[in-house]
Amino acid sequence: MSDDLTSLRRETDAALAAASELRAWDAIRVGVLGKNGKLTALLKQLGTASPEERRERGAALNRLRDDLTAAIEQRRASLDAAAMDARLAAERIDVTLPPRPSGGGLIHPISRTMDEMAAIFGAMGFEIAEGPDIESDWLNFSALNIPAHHPSRQELDTFYLPAASGASPPVLRTHTSPVQARAMLTREPPFRIIAPGRTYRSDHDATHSPMFHQVEGLALARNLTLGHLKGCLSDFLRAFFGLPSLPVRFRSSYFPFTEPSMEVDIGWNRRTGELGGGGDWLEILGSGMVHPKVLANCGIDPRAWQGFAFGMGIERVTMLKLGIPDLRPFYESDLRWLRHYGFNPLLPAMLHEGVGA
Ligand code: PHE
Repeated sequence: MSDDLTSLRRETDAALAAASELRAWDAIRVGVLGKNGKLTALLKQLGTASPEERRERGAALNRLRDDLTAAIEQRRASLDAAAMDARLAAERIDVTLPPRPSGGGLIHPISRTMDEMAAIFGAMGFEIAEGPDIESDWLNFSALNIPAHHPSRQELDTFYLPAASGASPPVLRTHTSPVQARAMLTREPPFRIIAPGRTYRSDHDATHSPMFHQVEGLALARNLTLGHLKGCLSDFLRAFFGLPSLPVRFRSSYFPFTEPSMEVDIGWNRRTGELGGGGDWLEILGSGMVHPKVLANCGIDPRAWQGFAFGMGIERVTMLKLGIPDLRPFYESDLRWLRHYGFNPLLPAMLHEGVGA
């Protein structure tokens, strides 16, 4: 190789070795391979050489270009790796240190209630299931044995969305019960699920919000009875409210998707608002044995499998538990309210010992 090529190679290698950061590296790259770079200039000069010279020197220049390109790329890779090592060293955190109370973010009471429900039902073998807020008419109503003339289907309560041509319009789900149907259609029984999430009804006043939250529960197994439902919900309510002797009453009711259906009341004192005593009853949730038609609609043989299901309002039980008098501030993002009712994120979700054990 001629001297000028050898010295360009040496010079570039030395410069690359000395480049300790990307900017210096890039200056070298441009200075050698760039439009006005040294190697580019040598390649351009080839044009003026004689044919034999051109062949020999051209081959040497091409080799040099390949070598220098490789050396430059290699240096780039080692600079990147060194930068990453430096960053990892600089950003090292000791995960064994105890956390500092942040004084910042708090858990919203609705999220907190959902966490507690997941913990309590989780200990009873329930898994979390989900469904979308925008639901088909079939899953929100028909699959659940809610006939076409049922009042809850009227515009008044349901938010309908624009329909695709010829199809029935999708809805904002009016309850979490369509997740029951989704679970039955996709899971193999036996299973137990809860489904917390948003629900929507066209209703707005001091005690109703057009968007609110429910939690759905569904257990499917062979030989499930009303006794299982009653035991499960009594245990849940006593654990959730932290009152082991909370009176729980099951009252016959009607839902199209359960038979028999029951509303569940807890004991409280109407005058003082105190839970657990006082001889008054407060309705807290709807429940029942899954209607055989609903099982069949969702591809489950009602002669082989039984289910119990329940649904309750998350805001409602949260208000009762925490003594929150008004529904509206739940959605107003008022920092004073959030600081008052929010939860320390480091507090474990299961406050009550022995829950579900
Ligand atoms: N979906 C009912 C409601 O929104 C509650 C419910 C769920 C009742 C499951 C029975 C079984 O009021």
